[in-house]
Amino acid sequence: MTRRPLACVILAAGKGTRMKSDLPKVLHRVAGRPMIGHVLAAVGALDPDHVVVVVGPGMEDVAASVAPYPTAVQERQLGTADAVRAAFGLLEGFPGDVLVLYGDTPLVTPQTLRAMVEARAQASDPAVVVLGMRPADPGAYGRLILDGRGGLEKIVEYLDATPEERAVGLCNAGLMAFDGPRMIGLINRIGNDNAKGEYYLTDVVQIARAGGHACAVVEGDDQEVIGVNARTELAEVEALLQRRLRRAAMDNGATLADPGTVYFSFDTRLGRDVVVGQNVVFGPGVAVGDRVEIKPFCHLEQVTVSSGAVLGPYARLRPGAVIGPDAHIGNFVEIKNATVEAGAKVNHLTYIGDARVGAKANIGAGTITCNYDGFGKYRTDIGAGAFIGSNSSLVAPVSVGAGAIVGAGSVVTQDVPAESLAVARGRQQSYPGWAADFRDRKRLEKAKKG
Ligand code: UD1
Ligand code: CA
Repeated sequence: MTRRPLACVILAAGKGTRMKSDLPKVLHRVAGRPMIGHVLAAVGALDPDHVVVVVGPGMEDVAASVAPYPTAVQERQLGTADAVRAAFGLLEGFPGDVLVLYGDTPLVTPQTLRAMVEARAQASDPAVVVLGMRPADPGAYGRLILDGRGGLEKIVEYLDATPEERAVGLCNAGLMAFDGPRMIGLINRIGNDNAKGEYYLTDVVQIARAGGHACAVVEGDDQEVIGVNARTELAEVEALLQRRLRRAAMDNGATLADPGTVYFSFDTRLGRDVVVGQNVVFGPGVAVGDRVEIKPFCHLEQVTVSSGAVLGPYARLRPGAVIGPDAHIGNFVEIKNATVEAGAKVNHLTYIGDARVGAKANIGAGTITCNYDGFGKYRTDIGAGAFIGSNSSLVAPVSVGAGAIVGAGSVVTQDVPAESLAVARGRQQSYPGWAADFRDRKRLEKAKKG
């Protein structure tokens, strides 16, 4: 069977007043990605022929975030039906199915979207398929009113519903699949005679039915279509997505010592037999190879970790950190924009920034790469097998050659040749007997005074 063409319209023009935010609602992040990005990813999995995001005037940041998908501007927020109208330019004459989604329901899955499109093909040839759900607390969701034969009769918004209608548990999740050729005519007949004075997309059902067209419901998981209107719902959605991501990590062969304390980003990739300790946070852009051990309290963002490496406890890997195979990054170590090559050890209390640490090099406790002078950033290059003594400062730009040794406590400002020793600190002086003489003198002074 050849697939019908598919267009997707994502509504994101609402002001999101209840978020009490300067940021447009759909740009608030869930698992490190704006909500609208999650919706677009779900939509993208269906390989649609057209996608358009409806935004409000001045929402350039939303347009930039969804690029290269195009946007259509809804000039005034007159309701969800008016928002779909803003996309009509792209839908005129479109012969396929049109999915309408809300930008504030980030947990929707491709499976559910596919079920909606498939339901469009049923024998009754519904003009509209609506996604329904039965949440434990139906709250202020619109209610789906069925006819006696399981078809959809109408949708009533909560504010306009009678007590009997409010008692209905089946709610409008907000997703609809339309028959493209019939859609524009039906939506153009929607008015705004209701409690909010808005053009409700939901009224399309009653209009379709009055015109003799069937309407259908597909029931989905209520957690998948939680609409984020306020920060509490944002937190709820975040928690649900974290549960999904933890489960996926374990299904793919990672051990999480205490799953509820590990936080993932939407794009975190873990290899096989990775072990993640308690209280680990993965920011966006992290890829971890096989058999890596991440001990408790590590924080990683935009980093690549190769197989067999050991991290933490308490390691902070910042953007641009590349950790080679079997390398060790220990406690209270910060790595930023630096490559730590195979088998190197950076075990204690160290900052490595804008640097390369060669294979099997050993970086002593308290080593600092001094990479910033208040104006520019400079690089430090440490050769393979080098040994940096504890509490050394490497003042970049500087290099330490392969196999060289830097004495503990050095402040290295000049390049160190390979295989050599560099010591850069005050020379030690010892004065035999000085301490005992000093104490005797002080005691004598005290006795005289007393
Ligand atoms: C909507 C549904 C309700 C459903 C609920 C599910 C309508 C009239 N009501 O209510 O039946 O139970 O979602 O979450 O559709 N938007 C625009 N332009 C506008 C108005 C809204 O683009 O003029 C966008 C918003 O940015 C948002 C989406 O449409 O992404 C939904 O709008 P919202 O105001 O959140 O609708 P709800 O009151 O939640
Ligand atoms: Ca909403």
